Amino acid sequence: MNIGVFDSGLGGLTVVKALSQVMKNAKLFYIADTHNAPYGEKTPQEILNYSLKITEYLIEKYEIDALVLACNTATAFAIKHLREVYPDLIIIGTEPGVKPAIEKTKTGNIGVLATPATLKGDKYQNLVTHISKEKDVRVFEQACPGLVEQIESGKSSSESCKVLLENWLKPMREARVDTIVLGCTHYPLVGAEITEIMACEVVLIDTGLAIAKRLLALGLSQGHENEGDFEIFVQSTGEIHQNLVEDILETPVCIQDLTLN
Ligand code: DGL
Repeated sequence: MNIGVFDSGLGGLTVVKALSQVMKNAKLFYIADTHNAPYGEKTPQEILNYSLKITEYLIEKYEIDALVLACNTATAFAIKHLREVYPDLIIIGTEPGVKPAIEKTKTGNIGVLATPATLKGDKYQNLVTHISKEKDVRVFEQACPGLVEQIESGKSSSESCKVLLENWLKPMREARVDTIVLGCTHYPLVGAEITEIMACEVVLIDTGLAIAKRLLALGLSQGHENEGDFEIFVQSTGEIHQNLVEDILETPVCIQDLTLN
């Protein structure tokens, strides 16, 4: 199976890591679109254009059987269109795990951290409206502009990053939020910092493993045999820190430059 995966940068590698724990007998082609990062501060049309261009490239170059949008922001603004244009391709997106969060919370107060674009998008707004009708929960939403840049530049543990997180998390800590949805695939990379700042037992929800299991199930239903090697190829449209890529994937990686016109 050839699997195409993309995100604006390092974040989607948290999903790739989960895929590498579940998928076998597959080649995974990862595109880090760092040239256009951060997606979360772009317009819906720009996000759709980036997503279409990358998908076209992955289909033409690697004849992918499956596409994973390892990005909540791209999923919010492009998945519907991509499914219409490529009806035969397995397409899996990433959405903030609000549903698992409301199952886990004991205090009934959940937090959602995501990019500004994701929180504004209809997809997320509809999800929360629907869920809050089903269960009595209080949702504390927080957009995190600037956090992706901190992570991409290797400053996750820096004082500047901590100050940002402390400000964003303060209302959640005061409201005894016990479950936080990491609604951007970059945010698991500051999971330890979030837990430390919350200073209580807090459950962090990310959906990487659920995505990997879903891809396996869909693959198996289409005849994929899950025995054998799993190879990862990484390409980046702009600057990316190789050491951070290797830290996330826990393996040496050769990264190729990519220009998409
Ligand atoms: N990692 C992406 C997401 O899940 C995009 C972050 C960004 O580029 O703003 O939303």
